[in-house]
Amino acid sequence: MSGEKHQKRIFLVTTDKEFARETRTAFAASEMVELAVVDTPLTELRGELQGAECAAAIIDMDASRLEEIDALRRVTRRLDGAAPVIVVTREYNAGAVRILVQLQVADFLVKPISTADLVRACQRMLAGADRDANAESQIYTFMPAAGGVGNTTLALQTAFELHNSQQGGATTCVVDLNLQQGACAEYLDVEPRFDISEIENQPERLDRQLLDVMLSRHASGLAVLAAPVRPTEMRTFDTDVVVRMLDLVSAYFDNVVIDMPRTWFPWTETVLLGTNRLFVVSEMTVPCLRQTQRLIKAIQDTTARQARPAVIVNRFEQKMFDNGIRQADVEELLGEFFVGGIANNYKLVREAVDRGVPLQAIDANANVIRDLRRIITPEAAAPARAKSLFGLGLLRRRSA
Ligand SMILES: Nc1ncnc2c1ncn2[C@@H]1O[C@H](COP(=O)(O)OP(=O)(O)O)[C@@H](O)[C@H]1O
Ligand SMILES: [Mg+2]
Repeated sequence: MSGEKHQKRIFLVTTDKEFARETRTAFAASEMVELAVVDTPLTELRGELQGAECAAAIIDMDASRLEEIDALRRVTRRLDGAAPVIVVTREYNAGAVRILVQLQVADFLVKPISTADLVRACQRMLAGADRDANAESQIYTFMPAAGGVGNTTLALQTAFELHNSQQGGATTCVVDLNLQQGACAEYLDVEPRFDISEIENQPERLDRQLLDVMLSRHASGLAVLAAPVRPTEMRTFDTDVVVRMLDLVSAYFDNVVIDMPRTWFPWTETVLLGTNRLFVVSEMTVPCLRQTQRLIKAIQDTTARQARPAVIVNRFEQKMFDNGIRQADVEELLGEFFVGGIANNYKLVREAVDRGVPLQAIDANANVIRDLRRIITPEAAAPARAKSLFGLGLLRRRSA
């Protein structure tokens, strides 16, 4: 019986006999998993999963019912992170999804599901439980408070910093979510190759191979996912497509840097929830700082304070004209959200854009680089989410 030692016990909590039967069949031949079915209703579950060598749990529930959500909360509290949890539900709503995100469930599947999907989710969950936390990819998202504040410039420069530091061979990819008028490809002087029309009606088509075809590479090796600019087309995409794309990119790259559009789209909230480090780029004018305040509030309201914005003030001037905005005003308006200013250096930034090169290539000691480094290096005060939710399946809506 030596082989059984390697099996991991997964508990399935369900009162759905058919689902239990199907799941048993799916795992019957598995060398990896031993399935234990608990047919107690979730709300009546006591300590069944504790001390039972529970490697993971699949909880079949109705996520739209408050008492079941409360029961799930008790289960995750008892497990205390010792075993990951997959939730299977027939009904759910936005509030439930938010709570599932907070409870950090490993995956979230919507019935009807195929057993193949469930098995895959379990494999991912078990692999994830063994993976070291540093292996998670880091998602940096840049959001502009107004037009022309330097969002693209700072996102790209951050990507170069991450790409150049390459600790442990880390890889970095820039994702331009400005579908209508993205500038990343232009600034980097690469051919944009992300063809949304190929996948917009069938996001599942986007796999590693197709991603490779759609990625562009800057001369430095930095990877870029950007769509060609088509001025006459009104373009946006489904949340499912965005999530699929970011799931995939974060599975293959250690660092993902997202250049967000100014417009708030239906998928914006989801991207923010999946982000580890969210930066809002602003500048030193009263209207822009006011707009930044509104944006901070919108971000916090829509993500139930899960996303924590860190505001960067670009083209920062210590001494403005006598009656202009000063650092003290910025600090007063933005409070703890303000994480730093970036020097105004038009000549440098302009030359970098015209040549499609990182700022380092022009002046390795430039003030802009120094200021940005102080903000984005991990030790800096900018708040971070421990773990990105992309790649965990959590943000996917697998409704049939
Ligand atoms: N720190 C800076 N100093 C001077 N000019 C800057 C700085 N950052 C950005 N710019 C310039 O501002 C303009 C807008 O920058 P861009 O990154 O395209 O903004 P956004 O993406 O927010 O529209 C560009 O011409 C860029 O060269
Ligand atoms: Mg831009």
